[in-house]
Amino acid sequence: MALSTFHAGPAPVLPEGTPEAGFAIVAESAADACRREMLLDRAMAPKWKKKSSQKLRRGRRPSPGLAFVARSADGRIVGTVRLWDVAAGEGGPGALLLGPLAVDPTLKGAGLGSALMRHALDEARRLGHRAILLVGDPAYYARFGFSAEKTAHLSMPGPYERHRLLALELVEGALEGAAGTLKATGRLVRADSLRRVG
Ligand SMILES: CC(C)(COP(=O)(O)OP(=O)(O)OC[C@H]1O[C@@H](n2cnc3c(N)ncnc32)[C@H](O)[C@@H]1OP(=O)(O)O)[C@@H](O)C(=O)NCCC(=O)NCCS
Repeated sequence: MALSTFHAGPAPVLPEGTPEAGFAIVAESAADACRREMLLDRAMAPKWKKKSSQKLRRGRRPSPGLAFVARSADGRIVGTVRLWDVAAGEGGPGALLLGPLAVDPTLKGAGLGSALMRHALDEARRLGHRAILLVGDPAYYARFGFSAEKTAHLSMPGPYERHRLLALELVEGALEGAAGTLKATGRLVRADSLRRVG
């Protein structure tokens, strides 16, 4: 089977003829968690779990339908991106926090990060979300429409570099007037597990 015809799950295989062809972006399953964490440890700077964004993710589940992995034809997880429910400031509008985004270090520059971003943004839009926030390199995320323009009055719950707090409005004006510290609003891991057992 040619790599470019590989299919895994409902997400379309990446376009033939592009460098990232042969990889599929699919919904993350529970069985992927361990390998996703191993990929993050390989791809991210040491101590990535100490980042402020992690405070908004710890003990929470990703926003429903918004956790994705990129799989190679042989089933390896070579990319990950997840989005999390937050409030943009105390009592502020609902938004998503994106991250971490990471690809296997041996596959950097092949377009996988961009493919994961495009898929995540399309799905977030399709699910009716109005805005996405993240902490990351402006030079990378500008290509997807992110900027610090709408985050001047927002802050992270911990140390971060202000110019790296970026936003993209999926609906124009979604972050109008948003101010204050981001707050996690996603489903708690423990509550979910208990419901499954009960
Ligand atoms: C950042 C990351 C997800 C990009 O994925 P990727 O598959 O390598 O990226 P793509 O192939 O889609 O895009 C490559 C382009 O992005 C640029 N790019 C990659 N990382 C960048 C960064 N941190 N800042 C600015 N530009 C960056 C490359 O120079 C390249 O530019 P070009 O298109 O002009 O040649 C990947 O490098 C990674 O996993 N990094 C480690 C984890 C990390 O730092 N994640 C958070 C990012 S802030």
